Amino acid sequence: MSQIKIFDTTLRDGEQSPGCSMNLKEKLEVARCLERLKVDVIEAGFAISSPGDFESVSAISKAVKDCTVASLARSTQKDIDCAWEAVKGAADPRIHLFIATSPVHMEYKLKMSPEQVLERTAQMVAYAKKYCSNIEFSAEDATRSDIDFLCKVVDVAIRNGATVINLPDTVGYTTPSEMQALIETVIRNVPGSDKVEYSVHCHNDLGMAVANSLGGVLGGARQIECTINGLGERAGNTSLEEVVMAMRTRPDVFAGKETRIDATQINRASKTVYNIIGQSAPLNKPIVGRNAFLHESGIHQHGVLANKKTYEILTPEAVGITTNNLVLGKHSGRHAFEERLKELGYVLEADELNACFEEFKALCDKKKDVTDDDIVAIATHSATADDEVQDGFKLDWFSVHTSNFTTATCTVSLMKDGQKFEDVCLGDGPVDAAFNAIDRIIKPEKHTFELYRINSVSQGKDTLGKVHVKLDAGGRTFTGHGLSTDIIEASILAYISACNKLSAWTARKNAVAQQQQQQ
Ligand code: KIV
Ligand code: ZN
Repeated sequence: MSQIKIFDTTLRDGEQSPGCSMNLKEKLEVARCLERLKVDVIEAGFAISSPGDFESVSAISKAVKDCTVASLARSTQKDIDCAWEAVKGAADPRIHLFIATSPVHMEYKLKMSPEQVLERTAQMVAYAKKYCSNIEFSAEDATRSDIDFLCKVVDVAIRNGATVINLPDTVGYTTPSEMQALIETVIRNVPGSDKVEYSVHCHNDLGMAVANSLGGVLGGARQIECTINGLGERAGNTSLEEVVMAMRTRPDVFAGKETRIDATQINRASKTVYNIIGQSAPLNKPIVGRNAFLHESGIHQHGVLANKKTYEILTPEAVGITTNNLVLGKHSGRHAFEERLKELGYVLEADELNACFEEFKALCDKKKDVTDDDIVAIATHSATADDEVQDGFKLDWFSVHTSNFTTATCTVSLMKDGQKFEDVCLGDGPVDAAFNAIDRIIKPEKHTFELYRINSVSQGKDTLGKVHVKLDAGGRTFTGHGLSTDIIEASILAYISACNKLSAWTARKNAVAQQQQQQ
């Protein structure tokens, strides 16, 4: 039996794609999900890319105990120094360095000759090795590289101490059989290949990332790089849930190859990540989409009723989706709520459980039947709740008037430090009116909306609405989430939370500027 390692790069390749940025608390929550999933390696970020990335890679390195934690670095001393500084506190740190090896990347991006790339590879792998025994080397754009040159680069990387060799399909160009042949050829031609692990990292530009990764495994790769929900640059990366479940569902094809993933945590991890970035799975997304296990057509339903195996190749329970239609309500006690959460894959600490139970009770007053979708929304919302600004504004009450023949008006009352602040404003619709009133009270720094999105948690007109707001102030983003059966309230909660973070940051910035002036 050979173990196929799962290297998750949601927090690096996933997070760097547009609309997917996360704050520190959100990244830590994703890292906890990944640890529960039992991924082998968490690529926590690209430490040198920003102070925020450095901070989150360090924090994740210290928090995670059961996975290797890696930081990406270009093949330069400065990047490697920074990556090491960020991951050195991890239980099992890894430096992941890369350099491009395809003709087009070397000539136009790096402006380096092949000989210079070879020399740089040797120097930088050896340099990183002085810090850390666990070194991954990636030959960027490997699938469009000259195979003889690629073998030379890999040889040099192994000789200088690389322990993992990653051959990425950076632009999503290859095919499954090509990827299999690439790995086989490099392993066959590079001495010392038996001493290292080969890895695949595929992008999904032609919709083949999962298939190409599996091709790599058949060719001898022992690590797959992937992301939750397939997030990532452009069309995304290999989706963790799809690649893991494909191997698990077809042991006949992937004989003797297994991952250590706890698949029952897949649904929770997927929902957490979608919740953080303010998206939801396309209905037909394999494994985690709402329709992935639904059988609508009469013929299919008939077959499934006779024997599930007629149309079901894997069960929803295997990936943590419960099909139990039990609903909880007003009379359900704390124990029943906690048990239901456990069945859904959420084992919470006492204080988190208390907060979720309060939210559940409040919801029961508004909604007769509380479904699994509602409970999952409460749990994921609580895990990423915006409590970073303890002394910020809190919603006291609001009142909105809107119709199709008058201008919307909203009155908002907020509390801060025991004081009440009220204001009223007109707007282009009730949300605009509410946000204008909040602006008059909080007076946040000038910003634009990078995102304002409402998602419904379940079906039905009394569904919970989940609102995600992302503000951009001078290139920095501030997020806020709101959850309520009233979408105006959810919007208000999300906006207040984002404004609180923006105001706290403005206050910190002004204090630093003042200190500098006094010096
Ligand atoms: O797609 C790619 O080539 C990468 C490397 C940096 C591993 O993300
Ligand atoms: Zn990539």
